[in-house]
Amino acid sequence: MTEPQKDPLVLFMPSGRRGRFAKGTPVLDAARQLGVYIESVCGGRGICGRCQIEAQEGHFAKHGISSAADHLSGVTEAENRYSEKRVLAEGRRLSCQALVEGDLVVDVPQDVQINRQIVRKRAETRVIERDPATQLCYVEVEEPDMEKPLGDADRLLHALVKEWGFEKPRIAARLLPQIQKLLRAGEWKVTCAVYTDGRAEAGGPLVTAIFPGFHNVGCGLAVDIGSTTIAAHLTSLLSGRTMASAGAPNPQIRFGEDLMSRVSYVMMNPEGRVQMTKAVRDAIGVLIAELVQGAGITTDDVLEAVFVGNPIMHHLFLGIDPTELGGAPFALAVSDALSFEAREIGLPINDGAHVYMLPCIAGHVGADAAAVTLAEGPHRADEMTLVVDVGTNAEIVLGNKDRLVAASSPTGPAFEGAEISGGQRAAPGAIERVRIDRETLEPKIKVIGGDEWSNEEGFEKVAQDVGVTGICGSGIIEVVGEMYLAGIIDEDGVIDGSLAAKSERIQPTGRTFSYLLWRGDEAAKSQEIKILQTDIRAIQLAKAALYAGVRLLMDKLGLEQVEAIKLAGAFGSYIDPTYAMVIGLIPDCPIDKVKGVGNAAGTGARMALLNRSYRREIEEVVRRIEKIETAMEPRFQEHFVAAMAFPNKVEVFPNLAGTVTLPPRKVLGGGEDGRPRRRGGRRR
Ligand code: FES
Repeated sequence: MTEPQKDPLVLFMPSGRRGRFAKGTPVLDAARQLGVYIESVCGGRGICGRCQIEAQEGHFAKHGISSAADHLSGVTEAENRYSEKRVLAEGRRLSCQALVEGDLVVDVPQDVQINRQIVRKRAETRVIERDPATQLCYVEVEEPDMEKPLGDADRLLHALVKEWGFEKPRIAARLLPQIQKLLRAGEWKVTCAVYTDGRAEAGGPLVTAIFPGFHNVGCGLAVDIGSTTIAAHLTSLLSGRTMASAGAPNPQIRFGEDLMSRVSYVMMNPEGRVQMTKAVRDAIGVLIAELVQGAGITTDDVLEAVFVGNPIMHHLFLGIDPTELGGAPFALAVSDALSFEAREIGLPINDGAHVYMLPCIAGHVGADAAAVTLAEGPHRADEMTLVVDVGTNAEIVLGNKDRLVAASSPTGPAFEGAEISGGQRAAPGAIERVRIDRETLEPKIKVIGGDEWSNEEGFEKVAQDVGVTGICGSGIIEVVGEMYLAGIIDEDGVIDGSLAAKSERIQPTGRTFSYLLWRGDEAAKSQEIKILQTDIRAIQLAKAALYAGVRLLMDKLGLEQVEAIKLAGAFGSYIDPTYAMVIGLIPDCPIDKVKGVGNAAGTGARMALLNRSYRREIEEVVRRIEKIETAMEPRFQEHFVAAMAFPNKVEVFPNLAGTVTLPPRKVLGGGEDGRPRRRGGRRR
């Protein structure tokens, strides 16, 4: 007896979902049946080009599948028509047209290109699997008929059920007065934006916008509201591509540099909250206009937005008074994730667009830290992973898939160049790399905008072009680290004045000493740059605050070592992990396990924008993160005091010791201003 012929086996990548399908099944239908997300705007008519796939060639032993492009039916007329006008890269097929004819491994690309658009500035290049809350759906609606007196809206909803399989779709009441015109303008063909939140309690699919005719553009915004900078990415909901990115200073800076001074401003000024809410919303409006223009679309094409920010930025953006966040118990007005219509806060995008805000972890660990967590996934890891977003208030998450703890630490603005005599923000001309000769104590530097060290040919030209203007955060970490490794400062951070006899770079400055890092150069239009004892002190205070916060979290989890460290934020991405460890900013860890992860908050926001399941993931994770208030923990002070030393008074750094030659222990005792003052935790 011969075995009955089995239906072809189809495996979709990257999801790994597989199933058997009768010959002649459109690949798009097979994907739908398996729950594999493939975009489609035209409903399988072969005109939108969003449903592209690629059949893999070869034998996939692991899966027992021999796949070939000719296991798909031949190229159709519709595909030929499509590729005449648009981009259909070699090997790509439209899954609504290609039929299953044999075993297949089907690749679902996550970056489908339709127009030859120019991508101006890339966000992170990470490819995010898509399943957005808002979908564009083209429908052909039955024309009115005296025999069947159904209303225009009802026939539209009926078409959505019939052609797209939506269950109980609804239409936003706001659209009803326009529906007659829109349907007639499109000659009964329209494209609907259908928003499906994905949570049972949020109700069924909702038509949030209607475009006459076939409309193939739908975008979303991912915005990170930082206390210093607002960064926004305009991303296609249909292809996952970042079409444009832009940033602007947060205009709230004029009300206060740091977070606590902004809270104070609200407390002191009756109009303060309103002014700051307006300032940030206006700035975001300007960014939106810039992004939309750059991408060649209209604000009506922006159908969703995701915002992240620290708790104070989060509250001020929503128009909530942040005063309660200024002191214990740091009570948030709302901590859960939020979803609402953009027009409720006057956001200049499509009237029906929905805003999603990630949950805040605690009163001092915000939605930005939630976004970083989502992007870096300590909750998906086996390794004990430390994630630090270094800013004026460092947000710290530690743990693995079993347990997570979070806290914030008041590092202050020293790492951003503030509070440092020669400090400046990272910009061309800022010193970002430093090495000090262990014998002669002579330094060499690199500045942003040039690749050469200062003792190399070509540096002079760089110095003339961009100048040597100051020292930025990563430069400060390196110079302090190098001063320690070269024995210029002792483990308590005291500059060794006796070295003045050996090098003229060690100079008496008031009652302490300083280190002359850059002599100044008229040709390079630069002044001399010194590292003062007070600069070392500022770095000690900042790094001790961060380390003490990390150590508290390690205590909570009973850890003596972390297995991986991810440094988020602009500063975190530029610091050299070795120097971060030399100064004891982060705990000891294998150096190759310490990584700068860039703008992880922005990546997390884009993930939540492009895929609803990431929203559910972070909502669930945030609920189970244990929150720790550093100021309330008795051991904070003890850890803080130990962490004032380089790299640390009590902790051991075996991985670090295996990487660099640490200097012999030297304690100078310090003068009046030489020994660091002890202090308690402070909030900024
Ligand atoms: S679904 Fe539109 S082209 Fe295939």
